[in-house]
Amino acid sequence: MKKMLTASLVLVAALVSASSVAAKSTKEISPYPLGERSVFSERAIAERVKPVGSVCVEGEECGSAAAAGEEVASGPRSGEAVYNASCAACHATGAAGAPKTGDTAAWAPRIAQGDATLLDHAINGLNAMPPKGMCMECSDDEIKAAVEYMVEKSQ
Ligand code: HEC
Repeated sequence: MKKMLTASLVLVAALVSASSVAAKSTKEISPYPLGERSVFSERAIAERVKPVGSVCVEGEECGSAAAAGEEVASGPRSGEAVYNASCAACHATGAAGAPKTGDTAAWAPRIAQGDATLLDHAINGLNAMPPKGMCMECSDDEIKAAVEYMVEKSQ
């Protein structure tokens, strides 16, 4: 009985010293106070489930996000800018069988389909022509401007 008591005292002492060592080392590692270190603490959970983005309404103070908002507010890009950024890769070279900009013979039957069809194919894709020329952030108006730019140069 006495032996068992001694053994358990030794065990308790070992546990206490181990936990104080652990506490000391986590204090050095973790920048958070004791109640916030657990992965189940409110802080840790809030950090894990925080949204990846937030909406910044015009006129609101949103820190660095405001700069991006201003850029969007500067209006749609020109047809030429969209063309150079997103369409020229295929349409300047004829890559993937794309009708080359300026190739009137290749464009004539396409232009004959009408603007609405051309725009529909540019936005939704046609065979090897990817939807929006893969410019997913382009607005429909920007795609329309790019199509007009290309058609103008190919008539
Ligand atoms: C990955 C290469 C690629 C990119 C990038 C690309 N296109 Fe195309 N595009 C094609 C190909 C290939 C065709 C021919 C498709 C067919 O007729 O089978 C085509 C055809 C078109 C046509 C004619 C559609 C028709 O009805 O005949 C338009 C308009 C067009 N592209 C607009 C654009 C615009 C605008 C962009 C940029 C925003 C763009 N394309 C970017 C490959 C591309």
